[in-house]
Amino acid sequence: MSDRTGYERFVRPVLYRLGKGDAEVAHEQTLAALRLLGRVPGAARAGARLSGAAAAPRTVFGVRFPSPVGLAAGMDKNGIALPAWRALGFGFVEVGTVTAHPQPGNEKPRLFRLVEHEAVINRMGFNNLGSAALAARLAAYGDLGYPLGISIGKSKITPLAEAVEDYVTSLRRLYRYGDYFAVNVSSPNTPGLRSLQDAGQLRELLTALRTEAAALTVSGLDPKPILVKIAPDLTTSAIDELLQVCTDTSVAGIIATNTTIGRPGLADHPLASQTGGLSGRPLGETSAKVVAHIHAETQGALPIIGVGGILEASDATRLFDAGASLVQVYTGLIYRGPGLVRQINRSLP
Ligand code: FNR
Repeated sequence: MSDRTGYERFVRPVLYRLGKGDAEVAHEQTLAALRLLGRVPGAARAGARLSGAAAAPRTVFGVRFPSPVGLAAGMDKNGIALPAWRALGFGFVEVGTVTAHPQPGNEKPRLFRLVEHEAVINRMGFNNLGSAALAARLAAYGDLGYPLGISIGKSKITPLAEAVEDYVTSLRRLYRYGDYFAVNVSSPNTPGLRSLQDAGQLRELLTALRTEAAALTVSGLDPKPILVKIAPDLTTSAIDELLQVCTDTSVAGIIATNTTIGRPGLADHPLASQTGGLSGRPLGETSAKVVAHIHAETQGALPIIGVGGILEASDATRLFDAGASLVQVYTGLIYRGPGLVRQINRSLP
């Protein structure tokens, strides 16, 4: 019996019943189990070997990735299971999104499974322990043995006009621990956040982050790539303006895409009216289009991490074909389990 069938037959039904079907309880329990796995000596290395995590290494924006398949931001926001992800076959992890201030996020329930569509709607709202707590945890881990991306966002209590300082604070605290940084300006669940994608505001934010990074580099740390994570809901002209700003401010790459506020193909679903960002299968086509547009517009000069709607290896192939250098998975892990990561690793040329 294949691993995928095993997960779907035996593990997924148990996870779905946890907390009387509350998707967030299943998520917490999975993280807790992985945290334990990460403490078993040798488990990560043995698992990584079995799941093909060193199948197709590549260097992108100056960072060496053992596999181009990564864990997307939001799954391990506080980095509690970081030593374990490699055992599942991931070649990198994006931890976070974290904010300068610890915050509880939105009221529960805030995570919904649309099983028939292999989709999820979430309005978590950056529930996280804050960037200082993450820095302390990362210091305690030491070298994880794989590249770590760190996603930073804005605290809810910080007014939009003071957003820059919020991001800069987190960058400063975490700079020594990240192999790359993702500037999250695309979550639909923090009011006003996505307006930071507008050219003027984005330029101000990225310039401040670059200035801070340069100062940290002068004080002895290596220069780190800074990437921008974008929404799938931008018009092509808004994307083009954003790309110009990214080029002007020496951004190292684009992560495309975050969740969508659209509800493609879900008109009749009872959960479609829930507020939040949609991920999973219905997002795949849009994310691939955005990746293809960025790739064409930049003539392949700006590395892209493709994310959105990977439920099987062929979905990852679609993003690579569209121009992505790396891919990430979130919702696919909920529906397909770790067998998906192995399947993608094995499909890589
Ligand atoms: C996310 N995503 C996300 N992205 C981000 O940049 N920061 C975050 O904190 C989160 N949080 C988060 C929570 C939950 C519950 C989900 C489902 C998603 C978005 C995620 O990283 C990814 O961009 C999208 O989910 C699209 O990929 P998938 O899920 O279709 O593979």
